Amino acid sequence: MRPRVAVLISGRGSNMAALLAAARLPGFPAEVSLVVSNRPDAAGLALAQAAGVPAQVVESRGRPREAFEAALDSALEAAGIRYVALAGFMRVLSPAFTAKWEGRLVNIHPSLLPAFPGLDTHARALAAGVRLHGCTVHFVTSGVDEGPIIAQAAVPVLEGDDEAALAARVLQQEHLLYPAALGWVASGHAWLEGGRCIVAAKGAGAALSNPLPDVPGLPTQAGSE
Ligand code: GRF
Repeated sequence: MRPRVAVLISGRGSNMAALLAAARLPGFPAEVSLVVSNRPDAAGLALAQAAGVPAQVVESRGRPREAFEAALDSALEAAGIRYVALAGFMRVLSPAFTAKWEGRLVNIHPSLLPAFPGLDTHARALAAGVRLHGCTVHFVTSGVDEGPIIAQAAVPVLEGDDEAALAARVLQQEHLLYPAALGWVASGHAWLEGGRCIVAAKGAGAALSNPLPDVPGLPTQAGSE
């Protein structure tokens, strides 16, 4: 039986949808058995329901973190969950929770960590003038956006980019990277060891990257000319 995964969301749920789509492929090494939102108004809940995946609200607002996390943990245990994938989940989890799920709890963050942890990553990348930006899938530890890196995808920052354009370019890569990284973890090809992530998957060393814009006189990046 494939290991059961829960996806935790707070909003739109496009990464969740990418994970659901991947998990529907026959060869994918995990099954998404549960979606949990900490917000009742998360748009992703309807997407999960439409995909036929049990979707549950575990409300975080208006109660202490311990009570919220206890309810969340019960929901995960009741569903026989082995791995938890945070996908736009906007609550910081306590050290007790991250310790319990250590090595089985992953997150996607919209920057090339350790650059730009926290919020507003695309605006901060533009303000800093970086030429490469991207996304990171990492194991979750008690430090926010600090856990061992499983996989990263890079995209160029182009002249004239605004926050929305850059966010869209990164998001496209998120939707490719997250299923791949979750697949490695669920199949035992990526694991936590000594505070680092070891990856032993075919092709795992390759960062995904959008092609650079054409430079007159130079061959195209993929060597397709
Ligand atoms: C993504 O950019 C993800 O990297 C970040 O929050 C955003 C969630 O988007 N953690 P979505 O809900 O998956 O569409």
